[in-house]
Amino acid sequence: MAEKRPKNLDPFWQRLRRKLRWRSGRGWNAHDFARRYQGTDDAWSYRNSPRHQRRADLLMAALPRETFGAALEVGCAEGFLSEYLSARVAHLIACDLSREAISHARENCKGFPQIDFRVADIRHDFPGEELDLCLFSDVLFYLSQREIEATLKEAARRIKPGGFLVMAQEWKDYYSNLTPPSHVLSRLDASADWVLSTDITLHSINGVGYLMIAVYQRTAMSGGPAQGVGFA
Ligand SMILES: C[S@@+](CC[C@H](N)C(=O)[O-])C[C@H]1O[C@@H](n2cnc3c(N)ncnc32)[C@H](O)[C@@H]1O
Repeated sequence: MAEKRPKNLDPFWQRLRRKLRWRSGRGWNAHDFARRYQGTDDAWSYRNSPRHQRRADLLMAALPRETFGAALEVGCAEGFLSEYLSARVAHLIACDLSREAISHARENCKGFPQIDFRVADIRHDFPGEELDLCLFSDVLFYLSQREIEATLKEAARRIKPGGFLVMAQEWKDYYSNLTPPSHVLSRLDASADWVLSTDITLHSINGVGYLMIAVYQRTAMSGGPAQGVGFA
């Protein structure tokens, strides 16, 4: 059965502000997620969801190595994937622009003291150096095209040559004011910083969309300075 379009949690004025911001080339901000994180520690209904369990399994299976040294998870929300990743990584930083999400993540992942949870907006504050792995799961679509360009440039500076950038992205037919994953692929493909490491995989979601997983490897080319937003 086709999945129903979820109810938008935000009031009309907030959606309008977001739309205008989007049209001026700026992506979502912490206010856009505030309502979602109120009064729950499972804001995205990941816990006990067979579909999200399968998504996590697919993602873990797609990682190009069994274990990694230093890794960054961008947009970790309440730590659902962080738990899985932590089993494969010696040092994991997991960041999110939402203070509430990080506070829930610290609580949810109490049994995983090795995960370093941080509040950070990846557009202005990219944590970690000499990374072996950087995971962007269901997060880059909240950034505008200009912000994605700058973030990928910064990722190239932070990920070691030979290290990996993994993008996992769900995309559904009715999405709006979001950047599709095909745009991210086109920017990665156009850059000398990255080379596609394994075949891109597409997994259908209930007949209304797909989950895309793409793994790129950092080449030995110079990353160069990020242009456009945030980064000095
Ligand atoms: C849909 S959840 C995805 C959670 C997790 N990555 C996963 O795939 O299970 C998106 C998360 O990305 C965070 N986010 C959005 N834009 C961000 C940014 N610019 N920097 C850091 N986190 C961001 C949101 O706050 C939200 O918690």
